[in-house]
This record gives sequence, C-alpha cells and structure tokens, in this order.
Amino acid sequence: APLQFVSLLGSLRKASFNAAVARALPGIAPEGVGVTPLGSIGDFPHYSQDVQEEGFPAAVTAMAQQIAAADAVVIVTPEYNYSVPGVLKNAIDWLSRVSPQPLAEKPVAIITASPGMIGGARAQYHLRQSLVFLDAYVLNRPEAMIGQVMGKVDARTLELVDAATREFLRGQLGALAALVRRVSPRTTA
Ligand code: FNR
Repeated sequence: APLQFVSLLGSLRKASFNAAVARALPGIAPEGVGVTPLGSIGDFPHYSQDVQEEGFPAAVTAMAQQIAAADAVVIVTPEYNYSVPGVLKNAIDWLSRVSPQPLAEKPVAIITASPGMIGGARAQYHLRQSLVFLDAYVLNRPEAMIGQVMGKVDARTLELVDAATREFLRGQLGALAALVRRVSPRTTA
C-alpha cells in the first residue's frame, strides 16, 4: 500500500525558501510515497494552558488528526537564532497537549534550509530534543541541511530547481519510508 506523509512548515513568510522545499516534496518523493502539506501553523494561537482549558483551537485539532492518520511527518523549517522558530515551537507545544499525542511513535524527518552555509543545522538539534520528549521516531540519517538555498530555488518561480538537492531529498524520503516499514509493520503489511 502507498505511504502517506504530511509536511509541516516552520516559516510563515510568503516567499519562504523552506516553503519552496516543502512544495517540491510531492514531486520528489519515491514511488509509493505521497506527501500532503498540513495547514498553516500561523493559524495556531499563542500557547497558553488557559486557552487550552477553554478547548483546543480547531486548527490544532485538525492538524493533530492529520498527523495521527499519516504514516510519517516531514518537518521543513528555517533556523532562527540558532534554534527552532518560535511559531514552530508554539505548534509543537500545542500538538504535544492533544490526547492521544499525535507525534508519539510517529516517524519524523527534518529538513532545514537557509541562505547560510550550514543550512540550519543547529535548529535541527534543538528540534530533535523536543521530539525526544514527544517520543517521535526521528530519522537519524540522512540529515537534510540545505545551505546557500537561494542558489537552489528559482528566484522568480520559487521552485526548488537544484537537481542534487532534489536527489538528496528523494533519498531522505526513501529512508523515512524504510523507517516507517520498520517501526509500523502492521500498517504497511
Ligand atoms: C534568521 N536567519 C537565520 N539563518 C540561519 O542560518 N541561522 C540563524 O540562526 C538565523 N536566524 C534568523 C533569525 C531570524 C529572526 C530571522 C528572521 C532570520 C535567516 C533565515 O535563514 C532566512 O531569513 C531564511 O530565508 C528564512 O527561511 P524562509 O522563511 O525563507 O523559509
């Protein structure tokens, strides 16, 4: 049966490079893997336990259900100040309070893209740390850190055009599919 991945975007910027990468994933994915974008994390309010106690926002509940139903999650995000953008951390904080917690035992791959040389590596390790507490199964390798991304995305069409990057990401999605098959053999038998 085909695998269904969902992508979670950590940038709210209209011309986001990371959005360009996320948009490319369905066309990059190997045979038998579909990638569907989740809704915008910009629709989540700032997390507060008081707001949560009034009831989970519809955008949070909807995303939690989509994640729960998916075989795996691909998080595509910029690095802000050597860490995870606040909006993405906010989304993770919301999702972590939903019961059943949708990222528990969920295979997850991380992609970061940056105009800088090292492609958001530091954000990846902070994100991994949070995902340990959520008990997600984060793919170890290959690590997708896309440096100097402005040379890899078409400035006019905002399409990820760099062939080597597309091939690398295809390999990462293949590795995520292999992880899904290892950790959840029942759903893929
Ligand atoms: C950045 N940027 C950045 N880049 C990086 O490689 N490491 C970093 O720590 C930071 N820090 C940072 C903080 C803030 C508040 C902003 C706004 C930006 C630059 C960042 O990579 C660049 O703006 C990207 O274009 C953001 O990704 P999107 O929105 O294009 O996907």
